[in-house]
Amino acid sequence: MASRGGFNSKIGFILAAAGSAVGLGNIWQFPFEVQAGGGAAFVFIYLAFSFILCFPVMVTEIAIGRKTQKNPVGAFKELGYKKWSIIGLMGVISGVLILSFYNVVAGWAFGYFLEMIQGNFGIGDRFTQFTSSEIGRVSLYGIIFMGMTAFIVSKGISGGIEKAAKFLMPTLLIMIIGLTIYGLTLDHAFEGVKFYLVPDFSKVTGSVIYNAMGQAFFSLSLGMGALITYGSYVDRKENIVSSAAYITLADVGIAFCAGLLMFPLVSFMNAGNMDNVQGGAGLIFATLPGVFETFTGPGGVIIGSLFFLLLCFAALTSTVSLLEVPVSYVVDEFKVQRKTTVWIIAIVIFIIGIPSLLSKGASDFFSTSFITYDGGSMNTDFMNFIQKLANDTFLPFGGCLITFFGAWIWKKKNLNEELAQGYPGYRGSFVEKYINFAVGFLAPAVLAVVFVLIVLSSFFDINVV
Ligand code: PHE
Repeated sequence: MASRGGFNSKIGFILAAAGSAVGLGNIWQFPFEVQAGGGAAFVFIYLAFSFILCFPVMVTEIAIGRKTQKNPVGAFKELGYKKWSIIGLMGVISGVLILSFYNVVAGWAFGYFLEMIQGNFGIGDRFTQFTSSEIGRVSLYGIIFMGMTAFIVSKGISGGIEKAAKFLMPTLLIMIIGLTIYGLTLDHAFEGVKFYLVPDFSKVTGSVIYNAMGQAFFSLSLGMGALITYGSYVDRKENIVSSAAYITLADVGIAFCAGLLMFPLVSFMNAGNMDNVQGGAGLIFATLPGVFETFTGPGGVIIGSLFFLLLCFAALTSTVSLLEVPVSYVVDEFKVQRKTTVWIIAIVIFIIGIPSLLSKGASDFFSTSFITYDGGSMNTDFMNFIQKLANDTFLPFGGCLITFFGAWIWKKKNLNEELAQGYPGYRGSFVEKYINFAVGFLAPAVLAVVFVLIVLSSFFDINVV
């Protein structure tokens, strides 16, 4: 069989996987979730979930991938559990669905980058118009973004994904640190930081807790086999546990930084008044251009362009990983040529994304009242619907099944054997005990509960806690 390729180095794998993790979830979603969830109270819960619960799930995914050197569907078959490969298939479907709408938002970010370069800060006030009436341009941006993604993936693992990550991730890190430092020097930055880091526990409801869990899960690219796929390209001599620790640290570190960047900017614009900040999807797209506009001289153009370039870089290393999941599945299982497959799948996913593209006002049918749950009280557009279905429902469910499978079907003994490869001190260590406990009990149980709560709340408006 032709070689599937692989990562050339441990750092290459870590950067690619951290690239998958760091994305719109960190820079676009995380700050507004923080805002809704009581500032630092949310951050604290998010961090706890990331390290205690998500990290062991990540380790399991990478171990399954590396052991089998297969895509998420093939991996379960390779281990001898053909029926369980349905989990992998669900992962592939989640990947396709997530990429279909994720690419639309990435396209907005790209469009905003172009606007910022030209100093068109008014785009912020026109955000709604941009996504509804300027659909020709928005589609073009989406096509370009998907094109860039497919281009990188078509070059293979070391020559495409790893190479891109080695350039994009360090650049991203420099940009976010630079921008954050700059933001902290602005007037009223302190009120922004205070808003971000002083916890308001009164805002922490049951739904804030499981949203923090969902956010951590999505942000770490878990539950759909993205890390089974990347793990399948990792060398046997590498230490999976330490790699996963670096990936988790990079992801939460960048999310944390994104908050530290966002809130001082917003506070600067509102002269320290953080009471009526627009939340939700508009926090970046509607509010930030107005902030950049107030900078004197070329500052607005420079900072604005850098910010949206940063967002594009973050999104690109994630879209690449999302596309690699269905690609590796089709290439491995149907023994077809990689290049053509990449472009065909990218086109198909773009087409699946068209309803999402049209769902912010361009088409009445797909917009606000596309679906109504629970007797008319919850109107949802197509993009939000897919987002709820894939991110909030499929991922925790997938994560629950993957950990259950890892600990009880494939069995902890085999999982540990794989983890011990490249990590000589693993056997008998505290890390081993913790991973066994988390993968065997904690993760499947918590994820099952979260899955049920999210389904009840999102689709039936029943809020148990
Ligand atoms: N983790 C990415 C983000 O935070 C999104 C993602 C989810 C990528 C699942 C791959 C798989 O934006």
